Amino acid sequence: MKMAAALEQLEREHAAIAAAIERFALQAVQLGAGEELAESLRSLIVEISMHFGFEESLMGEGGYAGFEPHHRQHLAMMIELGLMLDRVEETQAGTQLARNVDFIGQWHREHIEQADRALFEWLAQRAELEKAAVPPAPT
Ligand SMILES: [Fe+2]
Repeated sequence: MKMAAALEQLEREHAAIAAAIERFALQAVQLGAGEELAESLRSLIVEISMHFGFEESLMGEGGYAGFEPHHRQHLAMMIELGLMLDRVEETQAGTQLARNVDFIGQWHREHIEQADRALFEWLAQRAELEKAAVPPAPT
């Protein structure tokens, strides 16, 4: 995949996930813990997991030096989401639910500002290299 296209896709996915987290936060307030909210959380987990997979495939292809710590952040988030799903499924989330939801939103914002920003800079450099490597069009 061309790096410029990968960057655009990452931007789109980050915006989509931020919106999905906001929608989920609203549902958490409206529905409370239970099967309906669990179903919504499962969808959010799939979306986030696919996004992490995409980021990690980009890092892996290009030999990104910060792969391991970035991957560990993703892994920690997947564990948090899994624990949260357990609580929501068991309808034992109670007042913890709002804190969990806040945590996900906060984590996503901080992750984008730090780990993902470093990844973006690296991808942007590679996009520039790709552009420079394209031979001039015949005249
Ligand atoms: Fe990331």
